[in-house]
Amino acid sequence: MTDTILNFVNIHKIFAAEGIDFTALRNINLQIRKGEFIGLSGKSGSGKTTLLNVAGLIDPPSIGDLFIKNINIKNITDNELSLIRAQEIGYIFQTFNLLPLLSALENVEYPLMLLNLAEEERIERAHAALKKVSLENFTHHRPSQLSGGQRQRVAFARAIVKNPTLILADEPTANLDTKTSDEVFELLMRLQQDLKVTVMLCSHDNDLISRTHRQITIVDGQIAGEVTK
Ligand SMILES: Nc1ncnc2c1ncn2[C@@H]1O[C@H](COP(=O)(O)OP(=O)(O)OP(=O)(O)O)[C@@H](O)[C@H]1O
Ligand SMILES: [Mg+2]
Repeated sequence: MTDTILNFVNIHKIFAAEGIDFTALRNINLQIRKGEFIGLSGKSGSGKTTLLNVAGLIDPPSIGDLFIKNINIKNITDNELSLIRAQEIGYIFQTFNLLPLLSALENVEYPLMLLNLAEEERIERAHAALKKVSLENFTHHRPSQLSGGQRQRVAFARAIVKNPTLILADEPTANLDTKTSDEVFELLMRLQQDLKVTVMLCSHDNDLISRTHRQITIVDGQIAGEVTK
């Protein structure tokens, strides 16, 4: 299908830990289409982060094929992979992963450094992204001067600033209190709709997962069920 952006074909991920192989993903077959909002759930250790890392071209599959926009990642160089990551994929983490010495604006501008854009355009886009997350008055604040919710909003701005095809969010609300978690999730839903970007989110919060459009449950490294709203 033309609007499939990620296609997992018989993917396994095997880690070798202390000489013993451990299969963290087993026979994953999954097509992710443009504009989908996917919620991954599953117990701790079930393989959610491993799946997001494979989807994000951070960790290659051990067995099977991963296609991004019909390109088999086995057939391209590391430099080409890095460029796809830099252009197409925004990453959001539980612990925000902002650079502490940089301002909000500089943190958001940072991923654009890999894209060969003029400084003026980088700064303009970083301002626009911070405005989308309502942080236009916090551009010069460093992460330590921001609340948890504000930090995660900076991380959202950093993810959207490159106009990615895909956003991967690994437990983005787990370090926030319930009210802030709800606000941050609402923002993610709004960004997903406005930008028509594909989002793959994993969370232990079943309430949040139930609000995504396609819910996938992982059990012991396998897709155990799927519900589409
Ligand atoms: N680099 C690694 N080396 C060895 N084993 C790993 C590695 N990364 C993950 N694993 C194992 O793979 C399994 C899946 O881990 P993963 O981090 O994907 O789980 P998860 O579903 O994200 O859990 P959580 O909800 O706690 O974040 C676990 O048993 C973990 O120990
Ligand atoms: Mg995890």
